[in-house]
Amino acid sequence: MKLLRVAVLASGTGTNLASILAATQNGTLSARVVLVVSNKVEAGALEIARNSNVPALHLSREQFESPEDLDQAFLCAFKEQNVELIALAGYLKKISSSIIREYKHRMLNIHPALLPSFGGKGMYGIKIHQAVLDYGCKVSGVTVHLVDEDYDSGIPILQRCVPVEQDDRPKTLAARVLEQEHKIYVEALQLFAENKIEIRGRQVVIN
Ligand code: GRF
Repeated sequence: MKLLRVAVLASGTGTNLASILAATQNGTLSARVVLVVSNKVEAGALEIARNSNVPALHLSREQFESPEDLDQAFLCAFKEQNVELIALAGYLKKISSSIIREYKHRMLNIHPALLPSFGGKGMYGIKIHQAVLDYGCKVSGVTVHLVDEDYDSGIPILQRCVPVEQDDRPKTLAARVLEQEHKIYVEALQLFAENKIEIRGRQVVIN
């Protein structure tokens, strides 16, 4: 099978990147990570990429004169590697409209909650799990969704529930959710690799 050429954008530790890479290596994901980009020079994700011989790029606003120049640098890097799909994995910067337009329906994000709850600007990291616990939710979960021009508002591709336990703290809930993230992101990417996803309005048909 032809391997889907994926770019991963990450700002942090990169455990989702690591699980995607592992799945490409053990054959459960018919894709190849051809590029990893981070806005943070010290991101663990860049280190993980380098250790797997994947081109690793640090791109941030300060390196460029204008936001448009930064966008161009992203688009050039994607073109150079013939990127077919972009996977955001803990990438904390907003993606510009021009990049979103260029990769319409070909850019995914993973969010550690059941959207549309507990999403939007400023909802990231441990704050999400704290908010879920503060609300008293009995379940949380994971959403893999398409990226559109707002925060966390794109069409959901896959969602999975994760139970909230009575004695959960934000950290214990985050760990339980993260474990599912690692599985569901690979599953979602595989659906794209097998060309099984059809988007009809806001509905996702899995063929
Ligand atoms: C994950 O919880 C992901 O859902 C969120 O950021 C976190 C990234 O974790 N968007 P990692 O860098 O992949 O370990």
